[in-house]
Amino acid sequence: MTDRQKQLRQIASKVQENIPAVAAGKYRCRYHLMPPVGWMNDPNGLCRFDGLYHVFFQYAPESAEGAGMRSWGHYAGPDLLHWTFYGVAIYPDTEWDADGAYSGSALVDGDGLRIYYTGNVKRKDKEYDYISDGRESNTILIRSENGFSLGEKQVLLRTADYPKEFTRHIRDPKVEKTSQGYRMVLGGRLKGDSGAVLLYESQDGIQFSLQKIVTAPEKFGYMWECPDLFNMNGTEFLCVSPQGVAHEKYKFQNVYSSGYFAGTADAEHYREWDCGFDFYAPQTFWDGERRILYGWAGMPDVPYDNAPTVAEGWLHTLTMPRELAEKDGKLYQMPAAELKRLRGGELSMQDECAAYELELEDVLSGTKVLLSDALEISFEKEECILRFLTDAGRGRTERRAKVRTETASIFMDVSVCEIYVNGGECVFTTRLYPERYDVKIEGGCTAKRYEMNGYTVRMDIQK
Ligand code: FRU
Repeated sequence: MTDRQKQLRQIASKVQENIPAVAAGKYRCRYHLMPPVGWMNDPNGLCRFDGLYHVFFQYAPESAEGAGMRSWGHYAGPDLLHWTFYGVAIYPDTEWDADGAYSGSALVDGDGLRIYYTGNVKRKDKEYDYISDGRESNTILIRSENGFSLGEKQVLLRTADYPKEFTRHIRDPKVEKTSQGYRMVLGGRLKGDSGAVLLYESQDGIQFSLQKIVTAPEKFGYMWECPDLFNMNGTEFLCVSPQGVAHEKYKFQNVYSSGYFAGTADAEHYREWDCGFDFYAPQTFWDGERRILYGWAGMPDVPYDNAPTVAEGWLHTLTMPRELAEKDGKLYQMPAAELKRLRGGELSMQDECAAYELELEDVLSGTKVLLSDALEISFEKEECILRFLTDAGRGRTERRAKVRTETASIFMDVSVCEIYVNGGECVFTTRLYPERYDVKIEGGCTAKRYEMNGYTVRMDIQK
């Protein structure tokens, strides 16, 4: 082991001594995956392998604000409800990933696992803008026989290998197996500042050749992060998280967007995954039976904050795992069926309970739901509006979606809330920091409220 490799491991094990203290935080969630300490962003390397689900994630254990090493953290468990934290899986500890083991994916292949990710390197010998120069993005492969002990890092593509049309912003490999071999998408920023995806193919999953560059005919943001590509019911869905798309009343309300192109990569065929304040950089995977999506329930560069959890020594969560279903070219998202097993006893609306599910049916236009006296959800004829009435939103204001609501499933989990309208036709995710946990409903709907039990999460580090 090099000195740097030893040093990073020591830092991680030292800061992870704070896991019990962080676990006592008032705003810790019960059925959302969070960083054990420090910062979490994108879900990475999602897969089901050898009877276990693996959820890796962008992890900065040293700081709740994301400073320090950017590594891959690792959770695994048998059923999406019982998890064990396995510590840092990938350290940024080589010359190819020195400034971050950035996002990527995992692929079950034969009897092993392949992990593809971006090694981010920032040269420091002089001043760079890190857009057109000074940054290197290495596409790296790591193999694993068991999903836990990882092999050597093998660099597959370096900066000089990418097409000259691109700036230095290229990253986040998502690799899938096809009948012909392997297919990889990478997200990027073209010179001239348009977002684009690089589509590669390979026979062996090691030597990749560029097939095409996919971009919208009219510029759709300056950078596309975290691409994903899959086929469902005959439609190809190209998923991206575009940066720099102009805000509209019902769309692109956040600083960055996240959604998918159904069939054709243009603005007309693009739909956002989530209309709330906190959703970005999702990833999907096929678990053998269904396609599941996890998103990052967070967003970079926001004008609002999450100071209450930063004070507790941690920041951000993932969304619940969402099962995807295709209907008329639209993707519907609902929490994975097994999360129903978390449902506990029925509650009244007045009961103080911080982890619950609220089921609304036959929602009439004009119905308003008030969560914790802080977050108002108004179901109007043609739109659904989320509005914070107090500072429990930490600067979050209002979000709108064009949808005629008939039903809604609202999942509150202490400091994160996910709202699924019409069986997942439209979803909102937001963080919130209330002082109390009750519900008030005005107007017409049938409502039932149930307690939600938490995941079982073991935090004792296994290696
Ligand atoms: C998206 C992202 C990715 C990158 C990672 C770094 O949130 O910016 O493009 O790989 O985060 O943490």
